[in-house]
Amino acid sequence: MQHFLSLFDISPDDLQLILRTAGVVKQKLAAGDRPNILKNQVIALLFEKPSLRTRVSFEAGMAQLGGESLFLGSDVGWGKREAPSDFTNVLGQFVDAVVCRAKQHSKVELLASFNAMPVINGLTDLCHPCQALADILTIEEVFGSYAGKHLVFVGDGNNVAQSLALICAMLKMRFTLACPDGYEMDSDWMAKVQAAYPDAEVETQHDPAAAVKTADAIYTDVWTSMGQEAEMVARRQAFKDFQLNKTLLQAAPASARVLHCLPAVRGEEITDEVIDGDQSDIVRQAGNRMHAQKGLLVWMLGRDWISKNVV
Ligand code: CP
Ligand code: NVA
Repeated sequence: MQHFLSLFDISPDDLQLILRTAGVVKQKLAAGDRPNILKNQVIALLFEKPSLRTRVSFEAGMAQLGGESLFLGSDVGWGKREAPSDFTNVLGQFVDAVVCRAKQHSKVELLASFNAMPVINGLTDLCHPCQALADILTIEEVFGSYAGKHLVFVGDGNNVAQSLALICAMLKMRFTLACPDGYEMDSDWMAKVQAAYPDAEVETQHDPAAAVKTADAIYTDVWTSMGQEAEMVARRQAFKDFQLNKTLLQAAPASARVLHCLPAVRGEEITDEVIDGDQSDIVRQAGNRMHAQKGLLVWMLGRDWISKNVV
């Protein structure tokens, strides 16, 4: 069964097909055409953490494709009311796929292990693959192509950074993380990236101004991710020289674009003038969550349509 727990679950060819499908479906929407590709299909959204973008973009996207979605909050008692196998095998009788946002990546792996329905990762502590799809779609739109582009992530080597490192490796893009000492990406994850994509141009360094010098796009995310609130004070101190502000932006080429997955802590990892500035594509990027995920949903649940409509 095809799951999407991380970008390791798909090949670079699959990835490119998902992105092309997203582009076709996005163009159709702009022309007022909302084909019912997933008519009568149902997805569940099983979320252990808050969300605006992921939840609403999946719900709206599924509706535009002619399907339905069911939001499942804490009252369904996942992991609390009954055995994981009972929960999952029952849910699989009702829905065609589940999008899951979980505190620990092992929980989405457990959900997928029963093969009761395809599982899509809607963010875990390890990675955020749906976000990375939207980010590449945005880079492709803004530059005309993602080929050969240099993406520089300034901040924490977190779930978002880890997905970006992998997606850049898959697409032969260059990826640099500029982070404080001790906040690098997970070494097991990076070893897997290097093993799967030996030619990957992925590097980590500790000088943000040097890192952005050749950036096509500069990306940042919160210093304190959901679940890390106890470390907030220490993190503010550790990341204080890694703010994406006007001075750092001036160290980059004038053509560099700015990305952020949102939600942002304005004044912390990014300033108002940068997030709202001329070089920012952040709102378009958030909008692309829906288009990218429609591409993913069609690829997972409506493959026949792709063979007839996407080249
Ligand atoms: N970027 C993102 O995943 O946003 P939400 O937490 O609002 O879903
Ligand atoms: N790194 C952030 C991303 C939120 C979309 C978090 O995990 O909270």
